[in-house]
Amino acid sequence: MAGGGGVGPGNGKKYPGGMTCNVFWTCVIAGTGGLIFGYDLGISGGVTSMPIFLEKFFPAVYRKEEGITSTNQYCKFNSQILTLFTSSLYLAALVACIFASWTTRKWGRKKSMLLGGFLFLVGAIINAAAQNVAMLIIGRVLLGFGIGFANQSTPIYLSETAPYKWRGALNMIFQMAITIGILVADVANYFFAKLEWGWRLSLGCAAVPALIFIIGSWSLPDTPNSLIERGNHEEARNRLQKFRGKHVDIEEEFNDLVSACEEAKKIKSPWINIFRRKYRPQLTFAVLLPAFQQLTGMNVYMFYAPVLFRTIGFGMSASLMSALITGGVNAASTVVSIATVDKFGRRFLFLEGGIQMIICQIIVSVAIGARFGTSGNPGELPRWYAILVVSAICVYVAGYAWSWGPLCWLVPSEIFPLEIRSAAQSINVSVNMIFTFAIAQVFMYALCHLKFGLFIVFAFFVVIMSIFIYKLFPETKGIPIEEMSEIWKKHPYWKKFVTSEESRKNDGECGKSPANGKSFTNGKDSPKVSTDGIDSLDGKDSVKDKDCELEIRKVKNLDEKDLC
Ligand code: BGC
Repeated sequence: MAGGGGVGPGNGKKYPGGMTCNVFWTCVIAGTGGLIFGYDLGISGGVTSMPIFLEKFFPAVYRKEEGITSTNQYCKFNSQILTLFTSSLYLAALVACIFASWTTRKWGRKKSMLLGGFLFLVGAIINAAAQNVAMLIIGRVLLGFGIGFANQSTPIYLSETAPYKWRGALNMIFQMAITIGILVADVANYFFAKLEWGWRLSLGCAAVPALIFIIGSWSLPDTPNSLIERGNHEEARNRLQKFRGKHVDIEEEFNDLVSACEEAKKIKSPWINIFRRKYRPQLTFAVLLPAFQQLTGMNVYMFYAPVLFRTIGFGMSASLMSALITGGVNAASTVVSIATVDKFGRRFLFLEGGIQMIICQIIVSVAIGARFGTSGNPGELPRWYAILVVSAICVYVAGYAWSWGPLCWLVPSEIFPLEIRSAAQSINVSVNMIFTFAIAQVFMYALCHLKFGLFIVFAFFVVIMSIFIYKLFPETKGIPIEEMSEIWKKHPYWKKFVTSEESRKNDGECGKSPANGKSFTNGKDSPKVSTDGIDSLDGKDSVKDKDCELEIRKVKNLDEKDLC
């Protein structure tokens, strides 16, 4: 494949040990972290379209909705207060995952997961008991905190636990759990919508996935990487042995984990280091992948499927039924991804899914445009029309579910080296949350103003992100996680950032030794090696050199006293 795809695998290391029962069940249990996120994604759209809920908490929206019969359908549900209810959670999650970067590193992956489960549980209870909007918002903020901790730590847990050949499939259990959570929420909404207290049941049932996740992560061991990171080498070795199988030689993998950890320990502040030039590829993907995932427009269907289907003329329960169908397609198609990701690779799925989504978005846009025009008044909708729109949406959802959905959780968790893994994953989750928030907040407003053209805007984003993958994403399939840094060195674009010589030269910093003190730009600036182990230049350009020495000392974590 052209673009970034021609890059070969890491340095060809192949650790022994494949899928074992132990590793499989560990990943299934850990993957339940996705349930809480999924349940919430699915439930909020349904609850905000329940008239009794609207009448109690958002009477103005309710009155507007009741009063409107034949005016512009595009703008019917455009209420910023209502969308703030949906999206407040994502802001809370964003804040939480910054703290989670610290807990995941210092306390381990398991405790961060547990904390996430507890916070989500409390949020669910408060929401179910809500008497006023304040209680609703407090509950949602706690749910958001829970999701922030869980989404930060669970994908890392999965990628660190899985044997490298199965990492794609095992990591995607997280996305599988997200889609199951969404589907269960859709079903819950469908049945509960008919009851007077339905909204309380819908919101309160969030406690069930929370309890599953809490009990599950309580029973799990921590990952070998995290145990080594916190100094428990013996336990880490035993754990790795259990994961890989009793008779498997884990020596090489274990030693590589220890060295990766030693290297990582030299870095005191991952939050500063992540901005160093050599981590530019990882940082780029940590920011752009989650942003792009949201710009596919998928959450428009996830949050607003019931509302959207009502907008295009289906009745209340028909629209929940259609949302159920999209939820089912979403979960089923994720299985396709699990089955193929370690065979066909990430690039293939990204690109195939992208093309499928572009075509479907265009069909949806044309179909809505043709019937609703710019006035948003479609008249009677024929049956064939409804089938066409729902089918196009389903094919779109399938494309997303085997590409950008799971891959945007898998790829970030496998490309970050240990020294910046926690911080980088927090950036990944934060950006995901910011964009989820933005899409949730802006969608109704944008639909009201851009009308059917909104779906073309999403199609345009998918074109851009597919080109981005084609050109800049090197295949990560089948490469051990601690060997991943090799792929950038072989990539036509990224290599200039990560090869140490180029990195120094292009930084315009000082053209001298990189952090490991071994190689230099082009041999012209030959360094003298000082007794403190820090390479220094000959006396020219002393101010700049001084800065560079300080920079190197910082990177090496040496104190002032070490320098004399
Ligand atoms: C995304 C969610 C989305 C879900 C749909 C996840 O990967 O992060 O925002 O709703 O996929 O399945």
